[in-house]
Amino acid sequence: MLWKIYAALALTVAAGATTLLSHYSSVVEGGREAYRRPLQIPYPDDNPYSAEKDELGRLLFFDPILSGAGVRSCGTCHNPLLSWGDGRPRAIGEGDNALALRSPTLLTVAWTPRLGWDGKFRDLEAVAFGPIVSPTNMNLPEGKLIERLGAIPGYVDAFAAAFGPSGITRRNIELALATFQRTIPVPSTPFDRWVEGDESAIGVAAKRGFAVFNDKGRCATCHSGFAFTDSSFHDIGSAKDIDIGRGRQFTNSVKLRYAFKTPTLRDVALRAPYMHDGSIATLEEVIDLYDRGGIERPSRSVLIRPLGLTDEERSDLIAFLNTLSAPPQEASLPALPR
Ligand code: HEC
Ligand code: HEC
Repeated sequence: MLWKIYAALALTVAAGATTLLSHYSSVVEGGREAYRRPLQIPYPDDNPYSAEKDELGRLLFFDPILSGAGVRSCGTCHNPLLSWGDGRPRAIGEGDNALALRSPTLLTVAWTPRLGWDGKFRDLEAVAFGPIVSPTNMNLPEGKLIERLGAIPGYVDAFAAAFGPSGITRRNIELALATFQRTIPVPSTPFDRWVEGDESAIGVAAKRGFAVFNDKGRCATCHSGFAFTDSSFHDIGSAKDIDIGRGRQFTNSVKLRYAFKTPTLRDVALRAPYMHDGSIATLEEVIDLYDRGGIERPSRSVLIRPLGLTDEERSDLIAFLNTLSAPPQEASLPALPR
């Protein structure tokens, strides 16, 4: 997509007479194809889809039996009605204590190669037991969970249906939860309908905002593709002090200090507050941060520097971001086996 922007720029220069407006419209025309939603969910070879795994994963995901105190499920912090997040600055774990991080949305996780704000999880299967056994999150040791599930005939049957004789194991819990999370739909937004060719699906301000997003704002370099993320890690100049993100895992890297994963922007207008620590309350303030360029330091991405946006460009960007939301997803909670 970038080469198209550069090609359009070169054309503008070469033709001389080409107006700025047609430059923008060629960016918009060429750029939007790159945002088309994929038709298929990618399932890994070692955990292919099955309806039985999906159904079991759905039960486990919404069952508070997975937490020590029996009050918290995955769905408490990843609530489908709240765009698969929890709407809080920081997640609230066992004992009602705030964790260090905000609950990320699970929209588009099937396409996310490394998970966690700092990429500490290698795949979806690897995430599941993190929150379950963490004393500050769900606080339930593995053995206890397997014992609890084994005492409920409905679960014994559901594991047998999904996995045959291997039954209730840590690995099978991971496989089922990951399968269910891969099925989380990526609903169609006004932006998607525009990408698919419906010119009236979004307004003119949003179309101008899309051009700013791709061009002057440089947003699309990191927030790229239908999931609006390059799945990579960057310092955008906001985190401070010991909150060094991916730098904790790569202590010798200058660029990974204060680097966090580029989050998806789907449903972004519905998911305040923002960032890994919930430190920014509104989209307007997010734009302020990018316009200022954040904290200048060696780790800061070269793409982050003062943008000099006009008032109109700022409001156009917001209008564009507002087109990325779909109505809240149905949350019909499954009947839990007991
Ligand atoms: C108390 C709230 C809470 C609960 C309960 C919870 N999570 Fe999370 N979840 C979080 C937070 C906070 C993070 C960010 C963790 C990190 O980056 O290290 C996260 C991260 C994730 C991610 C990574 C998403 C991404 O885009 O990187 C996945 C997947 C996930 N959780 C799935 C689950 C599953 C499955 C369960 C149930 C077994 C669960 N979570 C329970 C708060 C919670
Ligand atoms: C260098 C890569 C990069 C560029 C360029 C970039 N972003 Fe980001 N964006 C990120 C990262 C990384 C985060 C998460 C930072 C954190 O959690 O502390 C983020 C977070 C966000 C969030 C908060 C989302 C959430 O769920 O918390 C929004 C909104 C956003 N960016 C919009 C934009 C816009 C608009 C632009 C252009 C003006 C832009 N970004 C440019 C990498 C980038």
